[in-house]
Amino acid sequence: MTVIAIDGTFASGKGTLGKRLAAHFGYAYLDTGKLYRATAAKILADAGDLEDGKSAAEYANALTMEDLDNPELKSGKIGAAASKVSVHKQVRAALFDFQQNFAKNPGKAYKGTILDGRDIGTVICPNADVKLYVDAKPEIRAERRHKELVSYGEEISYEQVLAQLKERDHRDMNRAEAPLKPAANAHLLDTTNLGIDAAFEAARTLICAVLERQV
Ligand code: DC
Repeated sequence: MTVIAIDGTFASGKGTLGKRLAAHFGYAYLDTGKLYRATAAKILADAGDLEDGKSAAEYANALTMEDLDNPELKSGKIGAAASKVSVHKQVRAALFDFQQNFAKNPGKAYKGTILDGRDIGTVICPNADVKLYVDAKPEIRAERRHKELVSYGEEISYEQVLAQLKERDHRDMNRAEAPLKPAANAHLLDTTNLGIDAAFEAARTLICAVLERQV
């Protein structure tokens, strides 16, 4: 089973890349951010406390596949709340097995898996065959994310998106548990000046080269 780990900053393009690469290689795909977003969405729906790690872990443990299909998970509010619940050790532990099982057993139809998130190459799949770390300048990521949020009908300025993105980067990179950082053997992909087609082509070429070397 080939495992590809894609980590990176918020709005770096890693999700779009992961989906396209999975379709191209015939691999299963898991957006692990959805697990944290779905946990946060459940807590917000119950007016619960995002700062309470023990209670947040109970929500994480009780997640169902349907919870991951909630279209509201894409919102900025839920993304920010997801970043807050993801700092808790208990929440990360609750979601660990699901992610590892997915990487190992995605289903008979697949020859490989792609997981994207923040700690895939460092914690969830440290033995992944290929590790990518995707990043882009904050201003470019904020521009992309702003366009996306406006297309969902959210009323938010570019400046607000940029400020929230910097806050999110800071929290994701500086938390004690599984902070966002490139794995020692990750290949860095900077998408600042790359459109999605060029980023896909760069990632595909890199993955093929690494996998060929392993044969
Ligand atoms: O990738 P995303 O924006 O949907 O992720 C939302 C938040 O979830 C992110 O800010 C941090 C957290 N997250 C994490 O801690 N580990 C992951 N593997 C994926 C997401």
